[in-house]
Amino acid sequence: MAGRTTKPESASDALVIVANRLPITITSDGAVERSPGGLASALSSVVTEGSHWIGWTGQVGAPTSPLPDDGLTLHAVPLTAAEVDGYYDGFANSVLWPLFHNRLQQPELRRSWWRTYRHVNQHFADMVVEVAPPGALVWVHDYHLLLVPAMVRARRRDLRVGLFSHIPFPGPRLFGTLPWRRELLLGMADAHVIGFQTEDDVHNFQDAMHRFVGPLRRGRRGASVVDAFPISVDVAKWAALGDDASAGATALAEPGVVVYLGIDRLDYTKGIVQRLQAFGELLNDGQLDPAKCRFVQVAVPTRTDVPAYQEEKEAVEGLAERINQRHATPGSPGPVQYLDTPLDGPELAAWYRRADALVVTSLADGMNLVAKEFVSARTDLDGAVVLSEFAGAAHDMPGAIIVNPYDIEAIKRAMVAVFRMSPMERHERMSTMRDAVEANDVHHWARRFVERLRAAPVTRPFRFPGRAAGGRVAS
Ligand code: G6P
Repeated sequence: MAGRTTKPESASDALVIVANRLPITITSDGAVERSPGGLASALSSVVTEGSHWIGWTGQVGAPTSPLPDDGLTLHAVPLTAAEVDGYYDGFANSVLWPLFHNRLQQPELRRSWWRTYRHVNQHFADMVVEVAPPGALVWVHDYHLLLVPAMVRARRRDLRVGLFSHIPFPGPRLFGTLPWRRELLLGMADAHVIGFQTEDDVHNFQDAMHRFVGPLRRGRRGASVVDAFPISVDVAKWAALGDDASAGATALAEPGVVVYLGIDRLDYTKGIVQRLQAFGELLNDGQLDPAKCRFVQVAVPTRTDVPAYQEEKEAVEGLAERINQRHATPGSPGPVQYLDTPLDGPELAAWYRRADALVVTSLADGMNLVAKEFVSARTDLDGAVVLSEFAGAAHDMPGAIIVNPYDIEAIKRAMVAVFRMSPMERHERMSTMRDAVEANDVHHWARRFVERLRAAPVTRPFRFPGRAAGGRVAS
């Protein structure tokens, strides 16, 4: 990982990162690739020599010996096919993910998924207990591993444990539908520092603690720090990629054609259908000219074994095809350009520089780093952002055109406004967004979290007496 040069001065400088994914993924044909998402580069400024990363390789079974990764020791947690099914596809991605993103559909609450989730969380915690140097900082990431803080603290009182949730935390009524709400909260609350993306998430978590754990226990057991730590991107890296890409960007689409851009994992939380529907209606109404506009949508398949993702793929691809059939012009396949393969940094930056507007219509989104990458890459101070009010990034990006993504008319108005916006207004809005994103880049985010964790008192005054060792929680 670039930028990591220091040696720990004492054991307590070592960091143990615990995330569902390792920074490398092993593909089905055995190739080793960088994992999706930017967590590895996000953490590069706080990872010291002697640090560890515990996670899953993305494949059933796994190497049992540690994998080297540029000085950082990677420990693969081996998962069986049944564990991947119950923990990853099941409880994490078919229960917690939709519920935490307010999906308006009751998730299937299979008890066997919960049992597997708890069991796999224990595997991760066991590995932390085994490899963490004395006094290390342990940083647990995301909804896959909410029980790990309590499981680790039950056996290693010398460690400081932090938990960061990359996704939203739902309101207490929705969270309260979970039969395992209390166990999940108790698993989280033993962390010394709990970080969320926004103040709304912090309040929702605190409300849930109050209702389902109780004020007395919350006061005694609650984490030392519960706060918002809005994540960001490596602004300097994206600025450099943007500068390098600007020359080639014009080759991506015909000159004079207005390009709307969407870049997402193919996930039902991203509102891809809503934005394509808005675009299609603007073409139908004659408000946009199919010969002069294009919607470029990059939608990378993800979690493909989960039925809701298969349905979303059909819905998105079907809609893109219908728009193209209706509005194809001679010599052009249609106004929606649909790409379903991941792009690397330079390729993404080229689209960021070519686009007239980025359109982010997430129905719910912890942050949305694409929006922050886009403005970081726009060193030319051009380009507009249409941004969902339900993405965490909406709190951090004054200058974006904010929309309710459930309101198709609002998305249409925003897309037309972009089309009509003066260069001066685009420039002003982009400058405002860039200033805001530069003020809190990802290195600042990572250092702030780690500093708060390091400052936490390692022992807390209260230990709940009835709690079984090993963090076991009743089902
Ligand atoms: C979201 C989650 C991450 C996850 C990523 C990719 O951003 O917050 O924890 O790694 O999606 O999803 P995947 O299921 O492929 O890991």
